[in-house]
Parts: sequence; C-alpha cells; structure tokens
Amino acid sequence: MEMRICLLAGDGIGPEIIEQGVRVLEAVAAKFGHDMEFTDALIGGAAIDETGSPLPQDTIDACKAADAVMLGAVGGPKWDELTGAARPESGLLGIRKALGLFANLRPATLFPELASACFLRPDIVAKGIDVMVVRELTGGIYFGQPVGDEMRDGVRTAYNTMVYDENEVRRIARIAFEAARKRSGRVCSVDKANVLAVSRLWREVVTQVHAEEYSDVELSHMYVDNAAMQLVRDPSQFDVIVTGNLFGDILSDEAAVITGSIGMLPSASLGADGPGLFEPIHGSAPDIVGQNKANPLATILSAAMMLRHSFNLEKEAAAIESAVQQVLKAGYRTGDIMEKGCTLVGCNTMGNLVTERI
Ligand code: IPM
Ligand code: MG
Repeated sequence: MEMRICLLAGDGIGPEIIEQGVRVLEAVAAKFGHDMEFTDALIGGAAIDETGSPLPQDTIDACKAADAVMLGAVGGPKWDELTGAARPESGLLGIRKALGLFANLRPATLFPELASACFLRPDIVAKGIDVMVVRELTGGIYFGQPVGDEMRDGVRTAYNTMVYDENEVRRIARIAFEAARKRSGRVCSVDKANVLAVSRLWREVVTQVHAEEYSDVELSHMYVDNAAMQLVRDPSQFDVIVTGNLFGDILSDEAAVITGSIGMLPSASLGADGPGLFEPIHGSAPDIVGQNKANPLATILSAAMMLRHSFNLEKEAAAIESAVQQVLKAGYRTGDIMEKGCTLVGCNTMGNLVTERI
C-alpha cells in the first residue's frame, strides 16, 4: 500500500519522539512491503519562530495532501507570553478544525507490565483499567462564539460560549457507540445536564441516537463532577466515555494519569473523511528536551493507531503493539516508567528496541 504521511514534529520533545515513530514505521513498511512517504511541516512554536504563525497555510495544505498526519507536541515556556491565537496551542486547535477532526479517541489502558506504576490502590488496580475516552474535538466551548474580553460598565469581563448543535452531538455519539460495539459494549455519556442547557441537549440527543440505532449497546449518563470522582474510585466500571471538548480534555488526562504511564498513551483524531491525526497524549515536556530521555512509546503506539484507523492495516498495527509489549516484558524502561530491577534506556534506544522486534 502507498501511504503519504505528514509529520508535524512541533516543539519540545516532539522531534525526538517523532523520529523514533518514523523508524518503527519504516521497519513496518519494509517487513510488510508497503511504500511510505514522509513529509515534514511546521506547527506550534517551531512554526511561530520560522513564519510568525503557529499554523502556516503551507502546513494545512501539506496535511490535506497527505493520507494521515502524525504530531509530536506543541508549546513550551519560550512562547508562554503569547496570548490567544498567537499561542502554539492555537496551531493544534486550528489543524483539528481545518481537517474536521471532530472525534478524538483516547484509550487509557493499564499495561500489565506497568501495573505497579499505577497510582491507584492494588485492590482497585486488580479490577483492571481499560477506558476509551471519546472526546468531541471541534466544537463546544473551545470554538463557540461569541468569545471576548472587554469592558462592561467599567469592569473587565471575559467570556466563552459552550455551544453544540444536535448534529455535532449525533455524530460523536455514533462514533462512541460504534467503538463500544468493538469493545465491552458500554457507553457512559458525561455532561452537566443538572446545570447547563447545552448538556441537556447533549443528553437528549445521545439518548435518541441510542434508542434509534444502538439499543444493543448499554448506555448510562453521568455528571462530569461525579465522573471525575468515579474514574479514580473505580475505573473498571467504564468502557467507553463520550463527552464534549472541555470535559473530554480534563477527563482524558485523568484517565491517562491513573494508569501511571501517561508517556505510553496514544490518541487518534478522526473526521468524516480525509486524513486523521495521530499523536501521543502527553505534552512537549520542556524539562527533558534534547536529553534523550523522552519516552517514544506513546508516539510509536499512535503510529499503530494510524495504521489501524487510517489504513485498515490491523496486522501491521498489531505488530507494533506486540513489539512494544515484548520490550516492556524484557524489562526496558525510560525514566518516566522506571522501576527497580528494570533497565533504564533513552529515547533512541527505546526506539531501537521496538524497531528490532518488528
Ligand atoms: C490536548 C491538549 C490541547 C487541548 C491543548 C494543547 C490545546 O491539552 O490535546 O488535550 O486542550 O485540546
Ligand atoms: Mg489536554
């Protein structure tokens, strides 16, 4: 198969981890006889430094011309003084919007080899953690209008708008129900319907989609504050969580960190058609940039998600996931997941170890 992949390495550890992801993909291409072509484009702080904009038009064009996009990370202290649309983060929001990537899949799983790194009590861990957060990614309060910062009667006042229309809710609900059918068949929709009008619409539409198209899936609803608590109290109760942009941002970090291995977790952002975008859940980790300390496994596992979701290459995706598992079994760890009795390795070596096992 021919695959054109656009690489947005971005900032901080982005370039180091993307380099390892590419090496693993090249090994997959060689082994399974695929033809992968990589192009690079600028995003985030790196794009600001070079062009003045966090998302140059060239980058949007390069992504649209590709079959899939891999992203490292954006942001860092160097650009912290910038505000609003000038910030590196707005490059990431902009590319999600430009590519119509409304569905963000964020699996949080406990790797059995890393169970002792989990932050929860052993009796809770024993029940397992395998949650898929399906986050709406191009609407809600992140993009709602009006947004502003102005003087009202002499008082400085800023505001954002949380808005969803029924079509936006319907399409993300379908993604969640479809995902649940391939997993344990349970969806929990998270909202704040006891307070917010937008959440009441959300709940009604999810309920309707469920009744009309997915009554084989089990649906429950939960308020976001309770969901935040239940995620640490007993994460095993969740299979798929579907929620809006802001709640999904927060809950996906929570779901990820309780596994104890945020450096391990991949994500996929998908639209109705066109290229998907695949990136690690963690950020740019400015404190360890350029020290060969970053954990490239989340990026490598994002590459597996890309093969599965954008190219339908299940065998190839599984080859990457199995190689990662073998490396962990053999006791190799980067600093973020290091434990007694294991072998500490850097970003490059971790990439080598996985590549060798493809
Ligand atoms: C994420 C990040 C982004 C978000 C930031 C960097 C804009 O936190 O992907 O979860 O809030 O969506
Ligand atoms: Mg986030």
